[in-house]
Parts: sequence; structure tokens; C-alpha cells
Amino acid sequence: MTEVKKLFVKTYGCQMNVYDSERMAEALGAKGYVATDVVEEADMVLLNTCHIREKASEKLYSDLGRLRALKVAKPGMKVGVAGCVAQAEGEEILRRSSVVDLVVGPQAYHRLPQMVEAGGRLVDTDFPVEDKFSQLPERKSLRGPTAFLTVQEGCDKFCAFCVVPYTRGSEVSRPVARLLDEARGLVAQGVREITLLGQNVNAYHGDGPGGAWGLARLLRELARIEGLARLRYTTSHPNDMEDDLVAAHGDLPQLMPYLHLPVQSGSDRILKAMNRKHTAEQYLRLIERIRAARPDILLSSDFIVGFPGETDADHQATLDLIRAVGFGAAFSFKYSARPGTPAAEKTPVPADIADARLQELQALITAQQRAVQDTMVGREVQVLYEKPGRREGQMVGKSDHLHAVHVQHPEGRVGQLMQVRITGSSTNSLAAEPLSGPI
Ligand code: 5AD
Ligand code: SF4
Repeated sequence: MTEVKKLFVKTYGCQMNVYDSERMAEALGAKGYVATDVVEEADMVLLNTCHIREKASEKLYSDLGRLRALKVAKPGMKVGVAGCVAQAEGEEILRRSSVVDLVVGPQAYHRLPQMVEAGGRLVDTDFPVEDKFSQLPERKSLRGPTAFLTVQEGCDKFCAFCVVPYTRGSEVSRPVARLLDEARGLVAQGVREITLLGQNVNAYHGDGPGGAWGLARLLRELARIEGLARLRYTTSHPNDMEDDLVAAHGDLPQLMPYLHLPVQSGSDRILKAMNRKHTAEQYLRLIERIRAARPDILLSSDFIVGFPGETDADHQATLDLIRAVGFGAAFSFKYSARPGTPAAEKTPVPADIADARLQELQALITAQQRAVQDTMVGREVQVLYEKPGRREGQMVGKSDHLHAVHVQHPEGRVGQLMQVRITGSSTNSLAAEPLSGPI
């Protein structure tokens, strides 16, 4: 029998990292590691990092600093750094931090168990020819009724500000048959909602029966799986929103009415400098087409303020676009120069100006988000219960529109899809009462 060892995983950044952390934990599980939430107990600490903005990267080094004392007290403890900082900085991490034993990039983590076994200080940031997913153990450590499923990785778009094409590499789509198998396995374990993940998910073009399948065809096939009630996908690029995918939003009941479609800026000049390859007008026309297919769809986006060269007029154009669309949610960031990207060579916008623009943009988004939420009050929606709430007899889950909903329902159980009536709206969530029995 293998000796039981404890693994502590910390995940930074995006949903893809959440998925990767789960798969790494499973791979190490096969070597006798069980998960712990208490870092002091761990025999191995794995930090799955994010490189997208400077702040995200810096978190790694402050956490490594804190781990130093722990490692002095417990010299046998192993520390691994995975994810995009591992990919971008490689051996530099070993040089900068003596507590680190292993550095493994996002495409090489199926080799983590061998690295742990081999011992010593090792780095693996290869983009190997073998598909890591086919080398990993089957997924079985599931807890809730929702799951992520990575269908595509990498990005060929090369937006001028973004490190993803360098850290995650060029676009690779997983084959249809593997995805259907993984999805069926998840549903057999009680999963009712699957979110398809990819850095550029709507550029999916995986090998399937009869040739390459696009995302719409994959979604249609997944929707046939009995017991799978909900499908979502993220993150998309506007230029890959093809007609059949837009149509799927109109005719696939399992495809939830929520779309995260980052636009970054509303100024054509800045969009061009960002290498986004579309205009504000084209984005607005696309939104019209999507809304024609699914009128109640909730739209979300990402914005960057203070991109090099951004003027007040450019910023106003972004605010105009936000007003024209009416977003139900959005993430917004101050531009952060990333080493190796084309925009990093350009003169930055002064920090105080960027700060003020970010505040102004966030205030507008928050108001829109709240307005969209308030329109839900009185409506009947479906909620998938994910966990008990903090109050006695309360369940918490997500609506079709991805709003967090608190439902007073003492008989409710996790994994149940309930018809509810929204009774209230607060800053970040909705309140509701149950209407009927389980669906
Ligand atoms: N600076 C600020 N924000 C960035 N993003 C990507 N790169 C940068 C950067 N260098 C944002 C984009 C992207 C989201 C995931 O992160 O808005 O859509
Ligand atoms: Fe980065 Fe997204 Fe642009 Fe790809 S499409 S380079 S992941 S921002």
C-alpha cells in the first residue's frame, strides 16, 4: 500500500487553473497524496500560478516567502510551482526562491508524479507532443453538481497586451470522443452543469466523426447526454462567434443565457493597437445578432483601461459602448505591462489617470449590473443548488443567468434544480422562494 501523504493546492487566476489544479491533485492522488486545506499539515504544497497581470505574478513570490518558515520547520515538505508563472519564468523561480523543489508548466503537469518520485529540484516547461489529458487518471474527485471541462487550450490571437499565447502556447483542441467520454463520466457522478473551458473556447475545432467539429456542434452533441441540464462556455473572442454558435443560443435549451464576450475597449483606435481585429461597431452588430437569437441573454465582458496611448476620448468611447450594450456583469483591469508582449514597449498612461478611468468604468458597470439584477425581481427562474447557505434552511445556487441566488428551502438538497421566484436583489446576489418540486 502507498503511504498517505497530504497535498495542499492553492489556485490563482482563471477557471482553467481551477480545472488544472483538480487534475494535478488527481494525478498526485494516484501516488498516495490526499488533499488537505491546512497548509501546515502538507507534505507537498502546489501553487498553481497566474501570469496575466503583474499583481497576479507577484502573489507567487509573497506566498513563497511565507512558505519559507514552514519549510524550515518541516524540511521534508515539497513545494511545487505550476501554471503560467512556471511556464514564463522556469528555472528563474528555482534561482529566486530556495524553497521551491519543482516547477511545472501547464502543458507538462501530467509528468508531475514522476517528477515528485525522481526527487531533487526539477523544471519541466516543455510543450510535449503527447496529450497530457490522455496521460492523466480519470476524473473522480468530484464534490458538487457543476464541473469545468477543458475543451481547448492556447491562443493564436496575440492581442498586444496578453501573455497567454506565450504561456499557454498555440491553440490545441481536444478530440470530440474524449470530451464526450469525460462529460458522460461527470454526469454519471452527478454533475448537472458543465462549463466548457478554453482560452479561446469558441475557436474550438476538435477532431470528430466526419472531420473537425466547431463548438456549436460539440455543444449540440453534449446536450444529448441524459441528465446534463446545463451547458456554458468561456472565454470567447468576438471574431470566432460564428453563425451556428449564435444560432445554438436560440435553439439549445441546455445552453444557458449567459455569454462572456470580452471586448477590452470601445475605441477603434485602441482596438487596433491591441490587435483585436474588430471595431466597436462590429462588436455591437454581433451583440444584436446574439440578442436576436436569445433575447434574454445576459452579457458579460472584460475591459482594460489605460492601454498605452489611450486618450480621454478613447476612454469615453469605451463608456459609450458599455452604455450601448448594457452588461449584466464585467471584469475590468488597469493595463499591466507584461514582459515579452508588444505593448510592453510602449509608453504607459500615468497611473493616476488609469486609476481614475478604472473607477469611472467600474461605477458604470456596477450600476448596469445592479439594474439587470433588479429586473429579475418577481421573475420565475431555475436555480441549481450548489451548497447549503449560511442561514438555517437556506440553499445557494446559480440561476440560468449565473446570478448567485439564496433560496429559503429547508428540504432543498445539493444538485437539485428548482423553479423559484426571485423576491429580492442585493449587491451581489438575489433572494428567492421555491415554487415547485424537483425538476
Ligand atoms: N493587463 C491588464 N489586463 C489584462 N488582461 C489580459 N492581459 C492583461 C494585461 N496585460 C485581461 C483581459 C483579458 C482578461 C483575462 O485579463 O481583459 O480578457
Ligand atoms: Fe489573450 Fe484572449 Fe487575446 Fe488570446 S484572445 S491573446 S487569450 S486576450
